[in-house]
Amino acid sequence: MIITLIGARPQFVKAAVVSHALLNEGIEEIIIHSGQHYDERMSNVFWDDLKIPKPLYNMQIGSGSHAVQTAQMMIALEEIILKQKKNIDGLLLYGDTNTTVAGSLTAAKMNIPVIHIEAGLRSFNREMPEEINRVVTDHLSALLFCPSESAVEQLKKEGITSNVYNVGDVMYDSFITFSELAPRNADISHIINGLSSITLLTLHRPVNTDNAEVLQQIIMQLGSLPTHLIWPVHPRNRVHMEKLRIPGNIKMIEPLSYFEMLLLLEKCEKVITDSGGLQKEAYWAKKPCITIRGETEWIETLEGDWNQLYSVVSNSLGDKFRKGPTSPWMPLYGNGNASERIAQIIKDKFCQ
Ligand code: UD1
Repeated sequence: MIITLIGARPQFVKAAVVSHALLNEGIEEIIIHSGQHYDERMSNVFWDDLKIPKPLYNMQIGSGSHAVQTAQMMIALEEIILKQKKNIDGLLLYGDTNTTVAGSLTAAKMNIPVIHIEAGLRSFNREMPEEINRVVTDHLSALLFCPSESAVEQLKKEGITSNVYNVGDVMYDSFITFSELAPRNADISHIINGLSSITLLTLHRPVNTDNAEVLQQIIMQLGSLPTHLIWPVHPRNRVHMEKLRIPGNIKMIEPLSYFEMLLLLEKCEKVITDSGGLQKEAYWAKKPCITIRGETEWIETLEGDWNQLYSVVSNSLGDKFRKGPTSPWMPLYGNGNASERIAQIIKDKFCQ
């Protein structure tokens, strides 16, 4: 039996495809929701729309400082694990959130094999909580699923060579599966509202949003671009909202469901973001992307300027916006069967 621990929006998107693949392989899975994301539009909408099997437990940890959030998750997870009557073959974790690191620390100390999906990615910026979470989790993992060859190589450099598999990115599986279903499951005409030349904008990284002055500076630069920016706002930005001056070309909206997001991605001309996942989704949708960060873990997307990094201290946003990709689009991060390959490998390793 496998236990899966998820808790943040991008993890719901990834688990949606992997959980069904596990089911298809006949692998028993218990899902635990950490409660890291808890707003209706950050959590329930995803579980319902993507038909993720209901979690057996919701730890309802919610927000808190990094130590508080992580520690509370560890305490709650240990209690749940101790209650299990069946043998636990592995704890399945995704990505780089506080939910991920809480899971890896707890399981490793209880001698439960950690299975990490999205292993081997690095930003080499230890100021990002996500970088710490992914380094720790990779080094505690017994089975590591990488989305690319560069991720496998990175693990090798850190001395991690056994039980490492390049299976491609499960997010690509989700992108393909749900893009097909999106038109029948969502309508964004009220969001587009006759606008043309749309850019999809998301911003939620602490480095960009937790200081009101930095956030205002970024927003003013976005305001100078010749485009309509549609911005589904992450709840973490609410705290600064009233104080912000928003230029007329920026339309702020509630967080979108995954189906709505995929439709908007299809409709937009470009993407500007600081999200990890959206950089790849922009690429797969063949939309040029500007990433408001000093570095990216998804280095392959930078090839041919499909994705350009932009740091707020430089003033070249307009130049980057006008620039188009300089090389043809090439497939990246697998071919959309990562979740099936992961399920097969888990079955071979643990569930015979
Ligand atoms: C987390 C992940 C990040 C991922 C992102 C996706 C960590 C360290 N970061 O960032 O890697 O890209 O999720 O969205 O785990 N909040 C709400 N409602 C919610 C969730 C959050 O209001 O449903 C607010 C709270 O004020 C909270 C803040 O957002 O303090 C930050 O939430 P948190 O879970 O700490 O991390 P994210 O910024 O969402």
